[in-house]
Amino acid sequence: MSKAPSWNYFQQHCLQMPELGMSLDTSRMNAPDKLPDSLEKLFRHAFEQMQELEKGAIANPDENQMVGHYWLRNPALAPTEKIQNQINSTLEKIQQFVADIHLKKIQPQKSAQFRNVLSLGMGGSALGPQLIQSALGSQGDPMRFYFIDNTDPDGMDRVIASIGKGLSETLILIISKSGGTMETRNAMLEVRECCNNAGLDFARHAVAVSGENSQLAQLASRENWLGCFPMWDWVGGRTSILSAVGLLPAALLGVNISSLLNGAKIMDELTRRVKITENPAAVLAWMLHHAGGGRGKKSMVMLPYKDRLIYLSPYLQQLVMESVGKEKDLKGKTVNHGLTVYGSKGSTDQHSIGQQLRDGPADFFVTFIEVLKDREQRSIEVEPGVTCGDFLQGFLLGTREALYQRGRPSLTITLEELNPFTLGALIALFERVVGLYAYLIGVNAYHQPGVEAGKHAAGDVIKFAVKIQNYLKSHPGQKFDALTLADALEEREQAETIYKLLLQLAANRRIQKFSSRTEFSALFQAKS
Ligand code: PA5
Repeated sequence: MSKAPSWNYFQQHCLQMPELGMSLDTSRMNAPDKLPDSLEKLFRHAFEQMQELEKGAIANPDENQMVGHYWLRNPALAPTEKIQNQINSTLEKIQQFVADIHLKKIQPQKSAQFRNVLSLGMGGSALGPQLIQSALGSQGDPMRFYFIDNTDPDGMDRVIASIGKGLSETLILIISKSGGTMETRNAMLEVRECCNNAGLDFARHAVAVSGENSQLAQLASRENWLGCFPMWDWVGGRTSILSAVGLLPAALLGVNISSLLNGAKIMDELTRRVKITENPAAVLAWMLHHAGGGRGKKSMVMLPYKDRLIYLSPYLQQLVMESVGKEKDLKGKTVNHGLTVYGSKGSTDQHSIGQQLRDGPADFFVTFIEVLKDREQRSIEVEPGVTCGDFLQGFLLGTREALYQRGRPSLTITLEELNPFTLGALIALFERVVGLYAYLIGVNAYHQPGVEAGKHAAGDVIKFAVKIQNYLKSHPGQKFDALTLADALEEREQAETIYKLLLQLAANRRIQKFSSRTEFSALFQAKS
């Protein structure tokens, strides 16, 4: 059973960041007191690479791109005047547009005021806005938020139904850097149809955030949408939260975006420190490396004890796993690196994954997020002298201790309070951690060949779905089982895919299904 770290040890391993109202406690990570020489060397290299990246080097060699999310909160650092102007003018444009929406200078077609925002996007074009809305949104906000981040028809129906008649007061954000992501395109077409059915002109509700000249940006310009805000090649999807992708929704929500950016900017300054033990991102990257031996052998379990931070886990899951989950290293050697991130929030997770964390395999470390200020108003006492917030902290500290006694390491990030400034700082901290960690293990953090491959995964299947329907239509009244149809289409090796497609078409009453001897020999025909 491990004994709790001593008061002295805790102080030595708790990095205070008073300028941010934050601290980082690594005293329960069982790391060596001194950074091993081999890692020290890797860190020096990582710092040099990071400096070059911030100066505008091609830090994403596979896509031949600069990596500039650090410039978004400090445009003066951008390598060219053109980029500085792009950042500054976009910020002004966002603020002007949002003021016009809030002051009702820009109005919906058939109502006096935009009261809702419906945001359509995937991955980095969804998780940033979702994190901001969930962390900083409140009842009294100027606008109410809705999200669609899938191509699930029933999921869309639920969102549209919850907006209801409010659709006439809804600003629709279509966010896609590439402008070609199918789920986002599909959601846009569905929402456009809902607008048509409600007698609303989609263009008078729509705003794009997209790469310059993308298909989406061109559509927005052709149809004269309410606005189009740029994304740039030098900002990656998962680090786009402080570009128009996250700032436009944040400003519409009523968040002070200058504070958000300032928190990130100050964290950037702290995470440029060359003394590793004084640099919170370097300390964290070291802990990630130490925990998993640089091979990601231990998962990172995210446990923010704050309901508002429920989206931090999926947000970091994408940031970390898409950045370091790579087949090849920078030299082209097959390495299959990765670092698994999961978890949702405490104390909720104590009643689900907590059991395994304590008693199951020791294949993880926990990142606890503690927020000291628990609510705005005064709390009632649920027991004499004790509030709900006391329990929340009690569960965090108690769980951390129970895990530590069982040899399960954890680190704790403490925020005095959660606000735009500290959220900005938290985002910037993890962006830098991921960048440094990727340099330590020698992978490109800024490309995503796996995601790109996934984007094309549905393509062939969709082609089959069309082929099947055309074939059945051209043979009216004839019934086919999956194998006969596969043979007729000269695609016998695709019989299983064809069977699955037939079942889905039939379940949605687009073709007819007839029972047969077995489920696998069921018959299908075009609807008459
Ligand atoms: O981080 C990434 O690059 C991805 O997760 C993208 O954000 C996601 O695939 C959506 O892409 P896009 O913004 O081009 O629609």
